[in-house]
Amino acid sequence: MTRVSRFGLFAALCAFSAGATADTDPITFRVDAGNSGKPISPDLMGVFFEDLNHAGDGGLYAELIQNRSFEFRATEQPTWNNLSFWTLTPLGGAKGNMQVEQAWPLHPNNPNYATLEVMEPAGAGVKMSNTGFQGISVQAGEKYQLAFFARQLYFGKRWVPQPGVGTLPLVVRLESPAGEVLAETKFDIADREWQRLTATFTASRSEPQARLVLLATAPGGIALDEVSLFPQKTFRGRPNGLRADLAQTIADLKPRFIRFPGGCLVHGNGLGNMYRWQDTVGPIEQRRQQANLWGYHQTGGLGYFEFFQFAEDIGAKPVPVVPAGVCCQNSDHQGGTGQRGLPLETMESYIQEVLDLIEYANGPATSKWGAVRAAAGHPQPFNLKYLGVGNEDHITFLFKKRFEMIYEAVKARHPEITVIGTVGPFHSGDDFDQGWKIANELSIPMVDEHYYVSPQWFWDNLKRYDTYDRSKSTVYLGEYAAHDENRRTTLRAALAEAAHLTSLERNADVVVMASYAPLLGREGMTNWNPNLIYFNGNGGVFPTVSYEVQKLFGHHAGDRYLPSTLSADSQRLAVSSVRDSASGDIVLKLVNGGDEAKALRIQLDGANRLPGKADLIVLSGKPDDVNDYGAGRLLKPKTTTIGISSSFAYAAPANSLSIVRIKKRK
Ligand code: AHR
Repeated sequence: MTRVSRFGLFAALCAFSAGATADTDPITFRVDAGNSGKPISPDLMGVFFEDLNHAGDGGLYAELIQNRSFEFRATEQPTWNNLSFWTLTPLGGAKGNMQVEQAWPLHPNNPNYATLEVMEPAGAGVKMSNTGFQGISVQAGEKYQLAFFARQLYFGKRWVPQPGVGTLPLVVRLESPAGEVLAETKFDIADREWQRLTATFTASRSEPQARLVLLATAPGGIALDEVSLFPQKTFRGRPNGLRADLAQTIADLKPRFIRFPGGCLVHGNGLGNMYRWQDTVGPIEQRRQQANLWGYHQTGGLGYFEFFQFAEDIGAKPVPVVPAGVCCQNSDHQGGTGQRGLPLETMESYIQEVLDLIEYANGPATSKWGAVRAAAGHPQPFNLKYLGVGNEDHITFLFKKRFEMIYEAVKARHPEITVIGTVGPFHSGDDFDQGWKIANELSIPMVDEHYYVSPQWFWDNLKRYDTYDRSKSTVYLGEYAAHDENRRTTLRAALAEAAHLTSLERNADVVVMASYAPLLGREGMTNWNPNLIYFNGNGGVFPTVSYEVQKLFGHHAGDRYLPSTLSADSQRLAVSSVRDSASGDIVLKLVNGGDEAKALRIQLDGANRLPGKADLIVLSGKPDDVNDYGAGRLLKPKTTTIGISSSFAYAAPANSLSIVRIKKRK
């Protein structure tokens, strides 16, 4: 049997096993496996986090109470007020009320608090209840951490605190919608000063629609603020922590970095809405809250400390992005201000704020901001290396002036930090060109490119970075996703992203970081589609097919790109070949975006001591397939073994990503 005919037989068998017929003329995928290759950035695969779609509040941030500190307002949503998501119910003929006051707040950054008053007749008391984000989901036997601040009001003269009225009972419960008690505890509110009270609840049964109830039974008034309920099992057990299931799903991607806090959220809707990192550290009741640019309320509970901590917990580098001293050009604040810049006379203090962030992350615990970090429980530095300045800003003189001031200050004071500039919202166009012009003029080390485009665009632009000038700024592809028809999360889109990722691996000397965007979307509360991972409030986590692609690339990354060629240009075929020096493994990736299997001859030149077989991981299906959790139809990669040699046949199934992992022979 000649080599060719043996290959023909093998290809036919592979095609058969893939359930498709391969083209008869194989394309040779030749890999220079003996070559040391060129470096691939160790930070290539990362994640982009932004609190849109309730990704943060009502999502990754594990807080179960919505409007815990009575700061929701009609400027955020016209139907909202300070008592939104809270309901007052008098029981058994009781008379009472629930109001909002500001006279004696917990902290100036948290000006509103609720008052719960029982008048005569006291009946069975009055209760205020919160149903969280679409109901509070509790699990039988699981523990929940309750915490709130309370103090007495003096009934009838509550603006004059007076001693000697005794204690006021307050029952706190988890209840089912029908009023069944699932957990309960009782406090005596004795003080005229704010006191933090805590308890641990164990849910007696599972209930997806529970509510938290605060029941006052004796005549008198109680002031309440920062009413909080967390599952005890947060990710890594962190207090004020993250939803364990979602955080783990992100960690499972093996992201090398996490970018936060956005996105457009960073530069904000109007100057007053810019995301200021200092507002989001320190005790949660002292953090300044604000309207989320995406139309809901941002508690700041998931703030800079929590982001840094999460990054560290999952072994990812933190990549914070600060505003470049301008707000979003699409700001509709106060009737449409568009892009505005911080007054130049305030830039010095703004720049100091940016420098303080670096001190917060990296300074010794004895420094001013290092001490704030240490007080939060992290005396060791967070090892910040990257800092994004600006996000998709319209590149104007206003922007340039402020960006340059920030950039030069950071460069001078912290040459160890890699500043990432911004080149607008699209893959080309005016902002892109002007952004790159500034990058070239100022020699910015790295720029942040963004594009949300059709699957076809990705296939058409696989050579985009092959010709990038390596002497200029490197690229952080900070936001990208293939947007298929109706923005569905199809295999077609995921394969286009996979194809693009092979081109990023090939060019990972210039594209040093990349993150799919956005990361998270809460079902029924999305501002944007598609997202990488969907979830609900009831323990449901629904990774998309694109997630599977990101995970495969994250798990099968390499640090050297091996020179390789395809013998013929083929429609919708993309390949890459990398070596992972730590294990010595060679990893081949083949993306076939066509509707027919593709016959390939894989030629491993210069490889010595090849094992006789390799792991073969295949993700395949129909182009329109999505991960349909309702129907239980999910596309998941399947792992088998394939026989290999220095020249072997492989038929890449139709619409597939195949990964051939050739383990180093021991
Ligand atoms: O990822 C969603 C949004 O898309 C980001 O906030 C913004 O940067 C981009 O336009």
